[in-house]
Amino acid sequence: MVRIKALILSGGKGTRLRPITFTSAKQLVPVANKPILFYGIEAIRDAGITEVGIVVGDTADEVKKAVGTGEQFGVNVEYIHQEAPLGLAHAVKVSRDYIGDDSFVMYLGDNLLKNGVKSIVSEFSAGSHDAQILLARVPNPSEFGVAEIKEGRVVALEEKPKKPKSDYALVGVYMFTSSIFEAVEHIKPSWRNELEITDAIQYLIDKGFVVNSHIVDGWWKDTGKLTDILDANQMILAELRPDLKSEPKKGSEIHGSVRTGKMVRIEGSVLRGPCVIGDGAVIIDSYIGPFTSIGPNTRVKGSEIENSIVLEDCTIEDIGSRIGNSLIGRNVTVTKNDKPPRSYEFMVGDNSNIIIF
Ligand code: DAU
Repeated sequence: MVRIKALILSGGKGTRLRPITFTSAKQLVPVANKPILFYGIEAIRDAGITEVGIVVGDTADEVKKAVGTGEQFGVNVEYIHQEAPLGLAHAVKVSRDYIGDDSFVMYLGDNLLKNGVKSIVSEFSAGSHDAQILLARVPNPSEFGVAEIKEGRVVALEEKPKKPKSDYALVGVYMFTSSIFEAVEHIKPSWRNELEITDAIQYLIDKGFVVNSHIVDGWWKDTGKLTDILDANQMILAELRPDLKSEPKKGSEIHGSVRTGKMVRIEGSVLRGPCVIGDGAVIIDSYIGPFTSIGPNTRVKGSEIENSIVLEDCTIEDIGSRIGNSLIGRNVTVTKNDKPPRSYEFMVGDNSNIIIF
């Protein structure tokens, strides 16, 4: 039985999720009140892998604080420092000592797969391939690595092509033997000045290594953008099992799958699942609609929210209209001003996005 390790990539800069990721690693943005990265670690653990290397960059401290030794997940985590986000293949390069001669699953820390990685890992360990990639059909292939397929075989890969040769995107989960280290030594930086893993896999194909491909079953999300995070939130919440750790009070109504944490206060409100409410949150005279995640210690009063993620320690009060399709960062206040002048008043971070109805 081959030993398989895991390499989770949690470095990089979360530019597309600014301003949320100015202060936090994009892999730590919570979906259904759990950091995206944790879903990946759990998927790896569920595939029977216990040795997990996490590649970290600028946001190393936050990632380390959240994940620790890995004990909470039942895995041993070691951190691998990447001095700058110079590409996925560069992250592989800096992990050479950690991986040694073992095979490994490489998991991009901002990816979410419904069915985890168990079947992929066991198929790879049973076979004799040098690498295995996962593909999924997408409507916007130019935003991904794209595979060109002939007679059922992957013949070429291209990173974010202007004219994609298929609509099969590379999913952010790869299986490699140590042959990938030869590949990453031979490739050159791309137009975006990154060492691309797509180029490294292309090297393997060109040199006659066996690269197996699989179409992913179940949904998959790269959570790089706001709409993708909200989609991921929907997908996870769609499978939510109801669990009320705090009972609602005074004429509140609960419909569908709703999960509430400890010490949650719900009064005079309607909660229509699927939705999750974090520990210590307060929901008063409000409507929390489907596909909404309310973070710990957030207070919602006299307001309506649906299809949104609100992080911890926020205050949303007496809005008078409904908040939808939103990602609201930590410690944010949204309130109504009853006194004239009737103006919108903002204090928002750089690169924020506000849509007024
Ligand atoms: O999600 C699938 C896509 O992921 C693939 O289709 C592409 O072929 C692949 O290149 C990758 O594209 P992205 O542009 O989405 O990669 P991103 O820069 O978002 O990085 C993915 C993860 O790896 C993210 O959690 C940050 C981390 N990372 C990234 C770079 C560039 C590192 O740890 N180090 C790095 O140097």
